[in-house]
Amino acid sequence: MMSEVKVELEDLEGIGPKTAEKLRNAGICSAKHLSLFNVDELLNIVDADERALRRALAHARRLFMPIKAVTASRYGLRDDARLTTGVKSIDSLLGGGLRPKAIYELCGQPGTGKTQLCLQLSVTVQLTANKGGLNGKCYFMDAEGTFSKERVKAIAERFGLDVEGALENIYIIEIMNTDHLLHIATSDLVSSVEKGVKLVVVDSLMSRFRSEYSGRESLALRQSRLGYVLDWLIRIARLYEVVVVVTTPVMEVPVAFASSTDRIRPVGG
Ligand SMILES: Nc1ncnc2c1ncn2[C@@H]1O[C@H](COP(=O)(O)OP(=O)(O)OP(=O)(O)O)[C@@H](O)[C@H]1O
Ligand SMILES: [Mg+2]
Repeated sequence: MMSEVKVELEDLEGIGPKTAEKLRNAGICSAKHLSLFNVDELLNIVDADERALRRALAHARRLFMPIKAVTASRYGLRDDARLTTGVKSIDSLLGGGLRPKAIYELCGQPGTGKTQLCLQLSVTVQLTANKGGLNGKCYFMDAEGTFSKERVKAIAERFGLDVEGALENIYIIEIMNTDHLLHIATSDLVSSVEKGVKLVVVDSLMSRFRSEYSGRESLALRQSRLGYVLDWLIRIARLYEVVVVVTTPVMEVPVAFASSTDRIRPVGG
């Protein structure tokens, strides 16, 4: 696979200045970013020649994706990076902390500390590896309006970081609706990941979906749209080796004869 030198869109076969401009206008910033898409997704967002896009994608895949299987004995050697949660008991349950390339769902009833843990992670990701961090930035997608600068300042102080520097390393974006969420996940999020983001937070992933697709009749649509956003987060996590954390509130569902723990379910299923 490739080194970390940025490959521009124009460096790809099939992409001239005009197509590159169209892709940039659609929020796609580099060849690696482009490689996250499949051709149908690209045709939906840019008006460009399909054959040219296919050539560009094939080229981008050769640069950034595995194109030949390796034997299991050689697979997965670089697997030691971990992100500390700052909570020893959780870290040890996770075998040292959160793993890059993985997506984690924090489920819990209101007030159980999901947002607090996300805020803490937005700071610990900035720590150096010997302190349990990933020496990276955080991209915080706030769908509930509960991001707290004051909490981040206090947490940064506790972990011995320069407070202003810590705030500079956290990108925060308010998510207004589910289309907005998908748009950001496929565009600005990826550009920011290319600028050193190592942790992506979506707090909470479900809240917008629940309000926009309420009622039993929209359940199937909701699950497929939600699954698609999750799929994008997984693509980004794997290609860029970042940690993704999403939160999900849980609720009690009325089930006859169930124990109290059986009745508690993540609201997204
Ligand atoms: N500065 C603080 N120091 C200590 N505890 C705090 C601080 N700020 C908030 N808390 C507490 O942390 C707890 C967890 O709150 P948090 O907002 O993380 O819950 P949540 O799981 O995100 O809830 P929700 O599902 O409603 O979003 C709350 O009881 C809150 O009062
Ligand atoms: Mg919360």
